[in-house]
Amino acid sequence: MNEAETDKLEASAPMAPEAAECARVFDRIARSRRSIRGFLPDPVPREILERVFATAATAPSNCNTQPWQSHVVSGALRDRLSEIFMTTIAEGRHTLDFPYDASYDGVYRRRQIDVAVLLYRALGVARDDREGRRQAFLRNLEFFGAPHVVFIFMPDWCGIREACDVGMYAQNLMLSLRAHGLASCPQTILGYDADSVRRELGIDASQKLLFGISFGYENPDLPENRIEPARASLAESVSFHA
Ligand SMILES: Cc1cc2nc3c(=O)[nH]c(=O)nc-3n(C[C@H](O)[C@H](O)[C@H](O)COP(=O)(O)O)c2cc1C
Repeated sequence: MNEAETDKLEASAPMAPEAAECARVFDRIARSRRSIRGFLPDPVPREILERVFATAATAPSNCNTQPWQSHVVSGALRDRLSEIFMTTIAEGRHTLDFPYDASYDGVYRRRQIDVAVLLYRALGVARDDREGRRQAFLRNLEFFGAPHVVFIFMPDWCGIREACDVGMYAQNLMLSLRAHGLASCPQTILGYDADSVRRELGIDASQKLLFGISFGYENPDLPENRIEPARASLAESVSFHA
């Protein structure tokens, strides 16, 4: 929603000034968050990291169980994990805690293709350029150059409801990063070598890895950071009943 649309909405449905201000700020944060695939190397100060993660943890959860467990990795350990992933995930040697067996059909497949087309076009990778696509894929395993990556786990007793809790936490985290001038990319692929992550970080086998999120300061010069994957219309995704 742009400024003009926001003005129109506020004129038709007046809000208390404080609510209107909060809504504007929230819209700006939520609508400007995008998956960023190119970062500057500058590390984020520890104080900001602690604040961002503390805000993320205000997420709701079933019975307030807070089943998420975040492991933030930076520096030499970040580099080491990237090197390991190049010998495991990149070579098809996977240890996944949660199988990824989705095969998309219909509108879901179309959305998947649309975002891939946007991304490869921005990267200048042609449809039949297999090597170009592989290089683009491998950037995932370099955390797109981000100085930090967080691996998000939950205990092995958790099911789909707790996974939803973790998703809410992760979105809180990404919005909190955005509010602090930071960028992120959630990455399923970073969950493809859960055993190495557990081993390198000394994490118990009872903790299961869902995904990783690379984060840091966006590199503003990269065309792949300017893609804007479309969203379904309100009418397609929401029904109002009375
Ligand atoms: C749980 C999750 C896993 C994802 N995994 C990857 C990934 O492995 N690599 C990647 O480049 N993008 C990944 N994405 C990013 C999606 O492609 C992206 O969210 C989607 O295209 C919408 O774009 P946006 O986030 O910029 O709005 C993932 C997103 C989510 C929520």
